[in-house]
Amino acid sequence: MLIQGLVFSESGFAGRGYAVKALFPIFKSHPELVYLDSNATSQKPESVIEVIDRYYRSENANVHRGVYQLSEDATRSFEEARQRIAKYMNAENSEIIFTRGTTEAINIVAQSGAAAFIRPGDEIVLTVCEHHSNIVPWQIVAERHGATIKYIPLTGNRRLDLEVAAKLITDKTRFVSVGHISNVLGVIHPIREIIKLAKAAGAFTMIDGAQGIPHVRVDVKELDCDFYAFSGHKAFGPTGIGVLYGRKALLQAMPPYQGGGDMIEKVTLQGSTWNEVPSKFEAGTPHIEGVIGLGAAIDFLQSISLEKILIHDQKLGNMLVNRLREEFPLVSIMAEPGDDWVGTVTFAHSKIHPHDLAAVCDGEGIAIRAGHHCAQPLMEVLGVTATARVSPGLYNDEEDIERFIKALRKAENLFL
Ligand SMILES: Cc1ncc(COP(=O)(O)O)c(C=O)c1O
Repeated sequence: MLIQGLVFSESGFAGRGYAVKALFPIFKSHPELVYLDSNATSQKPESVIEVIDRYYRSENANVHRGVYQLSEDATRSFEEARQRIAKYMNAENSEIIFTRGTTEAINIVAQSGAAAFIRPGDEIVLTVCEHHSNIVPWQIVAERHGATIKYIPLTGNRRLDLEVAAKLITDKTRFVSVGHISNVLGVIHPIREIIKLAKAAGAFTMIDGAQGIPHVRVDVKELDCDFYAFSGHKAFGPTGIGVLYGRKALLQAMPPYQGGGDMIEKVTLQGSTWNEVPSKFEAGTPHIEGVIGLGAAIDFLQSISLEKILIHDQKLGNMLVNRLREEFPLVSIMAEPGDDWVGTVTFAHSKIHPHDLAAVCDGEGIAIRAGHHCAQPLMEVLGVTATARVSPGLYNDEEDIERFIKALRKAENLFL
């Protein structure tokens, strides 16, 4: 069922105050807020907040432990959320592991996957666009296991160079780990092609879907990836909760990441044996309200049309890019818009530091991101130390972009 009022015209949303904003309580608390930092985290719809509130008011108990009704109810809500997420991604329930977020999910694959599968001399292939969360865990593991990391470069138009990728991925490659969508460039990477290259070489594939799940529909079977990670908070859900999808046979072959409660089958003073997946990778009391809130976020994602929101975000991004090109000659934009792009506009200004611009924006009630966006290697490739980033979401409109342009003009008046 589509959310009532979420009606898009052919050209996307128009005007301010459309029904979508009303679904997000933050805009009631801050009616003038222009939130243009959705790649950092999304705002939360009422439906997600309400489910978490209800859980604490009327369902709170630990899961998988109690033999009383309240605990059984909490366990049912928790496991139902897992089922809905599994169905949404076209995975088995046992292939959905709850984590703290994308970062922890990648660390699980890097650590446990390396222990099971990486041998000295093996290679790990990443891209120069990756978020630190999809670089550092592999660097730690590569050093520990004697593996080497190779990076797929960018072409001149800031897209992944598939020709080079085809040469880098060889029978020495054990893991290929690639972001689905760049948090900096907003470019949707050709992950299907990369997964095919990896499969042909016999390598395992990990997709960092932190920016993927909020923007495009993901079917892990159709993608044919081995692992896919995402964070709840970027996809209308709570912070502190995320998902690692992993092919069951691989998860079964991997050792646990952490030890503790719930991940064991039997513990003796001499040693322990492990529970089945997914429990084997979920040590300790889980983030129960996070999981239940994430279930509601997935329901929200299903109630909207990601295809239409993509058109909407691209429209706002294109509007901003055109205005920047026409009116701000000192601005250089980091990635060309295209169909393979989610409307994220990242740019450098030759005379204004991004932090100064972000501070001016803040004074105008506008939230944008400034800095290296946890992608220092990419900044080096782009030849900048920091950039400003405007990342629109479904609750933004043309007036938000106009207000940002006004703030940029104000910053130029102040600093030039
Ligand atoms: C592409 C990408 N990967 C990984 C992450 C890390 O996500 P989290 O901090 O939620 O673990 C982010 C967050 O910005 C991201 O954009």
